[in-house]
Amino acid sequence: MKLPYAEPYKIKMVEPIRMSAREQRERWLKQAKYNLFSLKADQVFIDVLTDSGTGAMSDRQWSSMMIGDESYAGASSYYNLKNAVKNITGFDYCLPTHQGRAAENVLFSALIKAGDYVPGNSHFDTTKGHIEYRKAKAVDCTIDEAMDTQLELPFKGNVCPVKLEKALAKYHENTPFIIVTITNNTAGGQPVSMANLREVRRIADKYNKPVIIDAARFAENAYFIKTREEGYAHKSLKEIVKEIFSYADGMTMSAKKDAIVNMGGFIATRREDWYTQACTFNIMFEGYITYGGLSGRDMNALAVGLDENTEFDVLHARISQVAYLGQKLDEYGVPFQRPVGGHAIFVDARKVLTNVPKDEFAAQTLAIELYLEAGVRGCEIGYILADRDPVTRENRMGGLDLLRLAIPRRTYTNNHMDVIAAALSNVYARRHTINRGVSIVKEAPIMRHFTVELERIAQEETMLVMENGELLTTEAAAAEVLELV
Ligand code: F0G
Repeated sequence: MKLPYAEPYKIKMVEPIRMSAREQRERWLKQAKYNLFSLKADQVFIDVLTDSGTGAMSDRQWSSMMIGDESYAGASSYYNLKNAVKNITGFDYCLPTHQGRAAENVLFSALIKAGDYVPGNSHFDTTKGHIEYRKAKAVDCTIDEAMDTQLELPFKGNVCPVKLEKALAKYHENTPFIIVTITNNTAGGQPVSMANLREVRRIADKYNKPVIIDAARFAENAYFIKTREEGYAHKSLKEIVKEIFSYADGMTMSAKKDAIVNMGGFIATRREDWYTQACTFNIMFEGYITYGGLSGRDMNALAVGLDENTEFDVLHARISQVAYLGQKLDEYGVPFQRPVGGHAIFVDARKVLTNVPKDEFAAQTLAIELYLEAGVRGCEIGYILADRDPVTRENRMGGLDLLRLAIPRRTYTNNHMDVIAAALSNVYARRHTINRGVSIVKEAPIMRHFTVELERIAQEETMLVMENGELLTTEAAAAEVLELV
């Protein structure tokens, strides 16, 4: 018999979490104005809001913190980080920052000016924010196939070479760099192939443009290259990672993901000119160049995390856990972005809550239902997050309306995955009875999803035809389904 996988670690310290009663959750969510960000964390049983900064550090990471060097300048912890970054990525220059968006802020301050165009694959919100804040434009060149959630492709996060060529042909005079996000978070944690990275480099060279990698989940991306791309099965993850970065001039890193620390980030590059320019902004925004907003102990833990999380067994356990949740959802028929991504499952809410009108935010409605069902907190990556069009002020509803279940690293067991899947399956079983969603009461002009206040719209009483042909009111149907599950 083939042995199943198991985590390459055992548990030394635990943190209690508590289940609650549905009536409590009803009350808490109402107080939170139906925005799951506004819940207190102890009102949540299983928290899959994000995989960012929520992972469990290893004993090696914790022990490295005890020998952090807290010197203002030239701390040994900085050199530990710099050496780890050099070993893993090949980049000579490294600037610590307090998290990923700070790395973007510092590097983009040096490289982007008003009127510029920055092509890439589904720029993450903060990346796009830091581009647009400088009155430049993010040009999304993701492959079209990423928009079809039911299509199975091994590298659905890829940059479309035709779109990239087109963008560069048009805007190359005002393009400071191309940015490739690995894995492609917004498209569902979908990986980018090595062939695609090579192709991006070829096109970039043709126009003499540098390439930056948004590397938040680079190790997960390397795992997919090893397991899905021809010619990489026998290479180590560390070899694959080196090749990935060989096609780039620099990187921004949110270490809260693939370096498994609770806080941290950095910029790394092979270009001395970029490093020199970025140093000034780092000193202005983050801190002196050898700590950039991080304590010595944080830099030590980050250095160890980079090394640990580029080992195959660790990544195999992590990605297999996400796949396990996907498998369960498949058993229950819940539709999600296929294939399963590296860090999360993205449930296709409009395919689940087909009776909820488009402008009543199906993904947010599903997030609410899932929380009420079992205290599981997911995150809407849909029409609320998409904000309004800056010119017409209409809701932007052209893309996908998804509910993300992002799995923290080394934090939950497969029993927790079973609970998430069963809870979603229960909501799925009574999906026909949910025909109204939410309306916005109060919203910020941009990035509204963090603070939006919502109201639930009362369900409409309609007659439903049940599978046995019986006609029932939605309320009676809901009661019947609840009894069944
Ligand atoms: N790039 C990507 C691809 C990200 O997913 C994130 C953060 C960042 C940059 C910014 O990094 O949070 O350290 O400032 N993503 C988190 C998420 C917040 O939930 O997906 P940060």
